[in-house]
Amino acid sequence: MKEQLINFEKTFLVALELVKTSKELDDFEHRFLSRKGELAELMGQIKNLEGETRKEFGAAVNKLKSELTLKFKEAQSKLSPVKNENLISDLTLPGKKVDVGHLHPLTLVRREIEDLFTSLGFMILDGPELESDYYNFEALNVSKHHPARDMQDTFYVDKKNEDGDYDLLMRTQTSNAQVRALKKYGAPLKAIIPGRTFRNEATDARHEHTFYQLEGLMVGENINFAHLKSFCEIVGKKLYGPNTKLRMRPKFYPFVEPGSNGEYTCFLCAGKGCRVCKGSGWLEILGCGLIHPDVLRAGGVDPEKYSGFAFGFGLSRLVMLKYGIDDARLLMSGDKRFLEQF
Ligand code: DAH
Repeated sequence: MKEQLINFEKTFLVALELVKTSKELDDFEHRFLSRKGELAELMGQIKNLEGETRKEFGAAVNKLKSELTLKFKEAQSKLSPVKNENLISDLTLPGKKVDVGHLHPLTLVRREIEDLFTSLGFMILDGPELESDYYNFEALNVSKHHPARDMQDTFYVDKKNEDGDYDLLMRTQTSNAQVRALKKYGAPLKAIIPGRTFRNEATDARHEHTFYQLEGLMVGENINFAHLKSFCEIVGKKLYGPNTKLRMRPKFYPFVEPGSNGEYTCFLCAGKGCRVCKGSGWLEILGCGLIHPDVLRAGGVDPEKYSGFAFGFGLSRLVMLKYGIDDARLLMSGDKRFLEQF
């Protein structure tokens, strides 16, 4: 019997030595260690014996079983570490992909325009989102009861000033930073001011209470409408390609004189007329004009010596056009299903 055990051990170890692949390991396990395997068969012999022999043989078989099982486990861990319970992780598995975020489409377009203007020597400035009535309206020639206020109703902070008026409001336009910039830097000045703006809108696909604009101004000696026009052309070509044409038509803004809008040939149909430009071939993208002498004066700049132009882009609108977004509310929704598309 002893001999039987010694032979079994030999056969087991020699066979184990020959195992090189996990397939062979599986076959080995099946042959020796499965429920009907050779070791189980050996164990099964215990019940046929009696008395002292049974006791001795039983003890020897059990001892051999634990030794051989250990040997098997060692071989197993060398071949396929996953099966080893002591190992916490399988270093051979492919790594887990970590989601990498990306910039918001508003940021992408803003940076593109910032790059253009900084290359033309403009500074990038900031203006406050919570603004005084003065900088948002009064200093820009929009007095208390000016009808232009109707189009720019906003959110007021419930705190009155000494005159009994609500003085603090969420800025309706990045133009609020014009007089601030003039006061701080004086003339000559070349600056753009991108930022968030607010209006009390009944929101729908084309209107949102929170949106983005990008303001620009250039002040110096002898700055005239031709400068404004050429800057607007450069922006259009950068945004929509070298064949983009510009059209300017008179438009009233209280803080410029003369005032104008700026339209570019539609980037989708190149001016033929399509769904995006509503058949007109043109897209209205900006408001602009020569800075009103009152505004220069409010900024401490002498309108007899200096002149300048200003323009304001609807940044949110640019983004919507660029990416074909049909609902303004998506930009501020924080909805990942939307954001993951950029
Ligand atoms: N602030 C204007 C608006 O929100 C846009 C604008 C028009 C800005 C003319 C300008 C400008 O600087 O000169 O509708």
